[in-house]
Amino acid sequence: RVDHAIRPRRLADYIGQPRVREQLEIFIHAARARDESLDHTLVFGPPGLGKTTLANIIATEMGVGLTSTSGPVLERAGDLAAMLTNLKAGDVLFIDEIHRLSPVVEEILYPAMEDFQLDIVIGEGPAARSIKLDLPPFTLVGATTRAGRLTSPLRDRFGIVQRLEFYAIDELTEIVARSARLLEVHTDTDGAREVARRSRGTPRIANRLLRRVRDFAEVKAAGRITAEVADQALNMLHVDHHGLDHMDRRLLLAMLEKFDGGPVGVDSLSAAIGEERDTIEDVIEPYLIQQGLMMRTARGRVVTRQAWTHFGMAPDDQAFDAS
Ligand code: ADE
Repeated sequence: RVDHAIRPRRLADYIGQPRVREQLEIFIHAARARDESLDHTLVFGPPGLGKTTLANIIATEMGVGLTSTSGPVLERAGDLAAMLTNLKAGDVLFIDEIHRLSPVVEEILYPAMEDFQLDIVIGEGPAARSIKLDLPPFTLVGATTRAGRLTSPLRDRFGIVQRLEFYAIDELTEIVARSARLLEVHTDTDGAREVARRSRGTPRIANRLLRRVRDFAEVKAAGRITAEVADQALNMLHVDHHGLDHMDRRLLLAMLEKFDGGPVGVDSLSAAIGEERDTIEDVIEPYLIQQGLMMRTARGRVVTRQAWTHFGMAPDDQAFDAS
């Protein structure tokens, strides 16, 4: 994987998310001018929108080092203590999937974030000792799919909270054009736009589809990506004209065919399509909701008229007949 090569390194190269970019630019500038570490920063939003990329950009712009880990990897208090004591002044500690930290590890994080203090207990029983160590000032960058997944004491300790949104087609077109340039594949504007249109508003998906469309273009179209070539390649990949993938269609079709369009609870949907509830809530449904294909209501999930239309189906009027 050469993800590395196409990931933007500076804020100025980061396309889209204008509010996030504008705010971070100010906060980074101010922290640097005061010669302080940047406040702890929480970045949340659906997968693939650039949370890890932003953590790397923050470290680069602050001119500091970055250490990366993730919630599920930190099993014991000592795992986090080891990482914290290895940081240099001002460094960024990036914790992906921070909502999956165990409670004991989270406890260590509170005084570390608040006072740059490490509070650990060594030994057991009557011989147990609590020791306090000073840590260098550092910036915790936490990433999660939904801010609501964090405990409130953890969420409250972030001074900066940024929500990433799905990208507009124009922004994704720019990202695809930039990636195509870096991958040295010839793409015209309509070709880039076709890949962008069908990427679920998500740069990670756009970049992945671009690589597959490039393969197709190299074998079938002399290496040139036009709208028509992109369309053929994406059809071959079963990415439909709306950019919905296999999982999106499975979820919507289950709602339409098995539950009459809803309302249906997320656990019933999970059982019907054999996907974890978390995957439905964090990965699949945010885009479908944003696109107006389904809604979350107090009684459960429901499809919209647009979803029926998308699949060339109509709500079955008979179902509402008293007979
Ligand atoms: N690659 C992935 N995400 C990007 C973004 N937001 N801007 C530029 N290139 C990207």
